[in-house]
Amino acid sequence: MTYVNHKVLNYTQFYNPETSPYLNPSNDRRVAVVTGASAGIGWFTVLHLYLHGYIVYIFGRSDGKVLKAIEDIHEEASRRVEKYGSMEKSMRWLGELHYIHIDLVDLRTIDNAVYHFSLREKTLHILVCNAGIMGVPFEVTRDGFELQHQVNYVSHFLLTLKLLPFIKNVARARKIQPRIVTLSSFSHKFVYKTFPPGEFVKKNPDYVFTWVRYGLSKLALIHFAKMLNKYFPYILSVSVHPGFVLNTELYNHWKQIKFIGIFAKGMFKAGDSTIGVTNEEGSFATLRAALDTSLCAKRDGGKYYITGGQEAVPSIEGTNMEAAQNTWDWTIKELKARHYIRPEEMIRTNSKRFKRKFAPLVRKSIT
Ligand SMILES: NC(=O)c1ccc[n+]([C@@H]2O[C@H](COP(=O)([O-])OP(=O)(O)OC[C@H]3O[C@@H](n4cnc5c(N)ncnc54)[C@H](OP(=O)(O)O)[C@@H]3O)[C@@H](O)[C@H]2O)c1
Repeated sequence: MTYVNHKVLNYTQFYNPETSPYLNPSNDRRVAVVTGASAGIGWFTVLHLYLHGYIVYIFGRSDGKVLKAIEDIHEEASRRVEKYGSMEKSMRWLGELHYIHIDLVDLRTIDNAVYHFSLREKTLHILVCNAGIMGVPFEVTRDGFELQHQVNYVSHFLLTLKLLPFIKNVARARKIQPRIVTLSSFSHKFVYKTFPPGEFVKKNPDYVFTWVRYGLSKLALIHFAKMLNKYFPYILSVSVHPGFVLNTELYNHWKQIKFIGIFAKGMFKAGDSTIGVTNEEGSFATLRAALDTSLCAKRDGGKYYITGGQEAVPSIEGTNMEAAQNTWDWTIKELKARHYIRPEEMIRTNSKRFKRKFAPLVRKSIT
């Protein structure tokens, strides 16, 4: 694997996905869901999972874009396979790529997406909550959440809850440890004080406070991984900051703003040539969390990984378990109030029956 070594990062510490096992899907069928992989970091995450033999479902919103991404990933995978030596060719298998429609701006689409998934699969080994938007103007969704908070966090929370039965089916088999990866960001550090969960932060100037809103959504994703680890310790749940990946579409909104756009482009370019990583390198933190067999839920659950997959410590607010609990409780309350989760869906996780069923798995800490 080659890296563009002109920057200040320590590339020797980067995770190399080629060190993870390659699966033969005809005798070891493992399923992954990646949200928003039509571009950027998600695109490369899917490419590597596919190259490792995973059955990958892209949950995305732009039909044409996702279908084109699938075509391009097939082509890129074939190009890479061509370069394999004869040994690699005989020991590496490609997986499958599928598309399921979801629009994280609209919570109604989540049940539908999970229903379509359930028609094809009974198990889910890896869930990557990757889709996201950044620094957009203030807006409230039809579901009544601040736009960035819903797309980046609330919708992923609901999607994860709905996919939990498929993830638990993997844990029940006791051979493989299922994983949930949330794409957080360094920007969770923009949260300069403690806000009550769900605070809209509708303040002026909007082009400054939009970053605080983005930060809050990314902070919530760190809390989410920690709480998943608390309630479901047999799943390896972690959050990642992929690095500063400045050539993805995430920055498009800022590049296109009149006047500010010129300044923003200059800043992003300077960032790219100093601390930036390529889109593919940006996928390594996620891929470490998803594939590295040296990680286990008991020891690594709830942790935070940064550029290239290195372990790091989030902000004080990010490590605050009381704040994480508040974030979780608020989200459950809001989603219940909108009738998106049935009360029994959550109660079950705390019931005696649930604990009896899953306690042995936790004690064994499957890896
Ligand atoms: N790039 C960075 O420097 C950086 C740094 C820290 C964290 N991150 C995080 O990494 C993740 C991936 O970012 P990226 O840089 O790869 O961004 P990107 O190139 O803009 O890709 C984002 C993906 O999310 C999808 N998406 C956006 N809104 C959606 C919605 N409502 N429903 C479903 N899918 C939606 C997009 O689909 P469409 O094409 O249809 O819009 C796209 O596939 C994000 O969560 C981001 O916050 C990125």
